Amino acid sequence: MNEQLAYEDAIMQNAILYVKEAGKLIMDLINMPLQIQEKKNQSDLVTEVDVRSEQLLRDRIIRDYPDHWILSEETDGGREDSHRALQQPTAGYGWIIDPIDGTINFIHSIAHFSISIGIVRNGVPICGVVYNPVTNDLYSGRKQGGAFLNGQTIQVGKEQELAQALLATGFQAIDWKPNSVVVEQIGRMTGRVRSVRIMGAASLDLCLVASGRLTGFWHDGLYPWDVAAGIVILQEAGGTITNVAGRPFTLSDSTLIASNSIIHQALISVLQ
Ligand code: IPD
Ligand code: CA
Ligand code: CA
Ligand code: CA
Repeated sequence: MNEQLAYEDAIMQNAILYVKEAGKLIMDLINMPLQIQEKKNQSDLVTEVDVRSEQLLRDRIIRDYPDHWILSEETDGGREDSHRALQQPTAGYGWIIDPIDGTINFIHSIAHFSISIGIVRNGVPICGVVYNPVTNDLYSGRKQGGAFLNGQTIQVGKEQELAQALLATGFQAIDWKPNSVVVEQIGRMTGRVRSVRIMGAASLDLCLVASGRLTGFWHDGLYPWDVAAGIVILQEAGGTITNVAGRPFTLSDSTLIASNSIIHQALISVLQ
């Protein structure tokens, strides 16, 4: 194993330790009365558990990797420039953290949320770890190293046509309003695909495509912390992720389209 690979392997193993530690913290606090705060609106919420999970993750990374940069939702998300753009220095190694992806599910005691860590090298996502502490599902992926669920290799599904496709999408908080874009997009899917789900944790949606449960996923206006981990896992499982123009997805794109690769073009055609 060359030196860089060994270094990145150790990063990945540490990321797994950190998400498990954050998962334990979340599970310890899950039945406590929650302090819930609105950020930009009634659908954009944060609890003290999100903040404590993020603090734990940041502390571990700063302790073990003081020369790496960190971008995390509850620390960086308030910045005017944080929307869609990856404004951190892109040179070197960076950690992109969502301390709870699926905060609304967490608040409503729905066991579908995760801790998501994506690691980038010179701006390119190279490792991803997504952990659901309730189900104990740990998804991981490393560029050119495969994708795994609890250590077992995963692959995208084999659906050949939209008619067999189970898709997911989601609302960004600012799009939770009458006649929103996503409602219109779902309307276009009606009658063409098997069905559409809105499950509320983008990182897990990408992992569900990676493990062949979902066939595809599309979403407008996601942030780097929602997707940095999931895109590595999905690509390594054989999936395709592009923007709406069909070009490879980058962390500064606003629309993400993800699929098992086979139905990708058909999915783009409906969304364009
Ligand atoms: C949200 C989830 C959700 C997506 C929203 C995100 P959060 O993240 O990923 O699935 O539809 O747009 O904001 O706020 O729960 O970390
Ligand atoms: Ca949030
Ligand atoms: Ca999120
Ligand atoms: Ca979050």
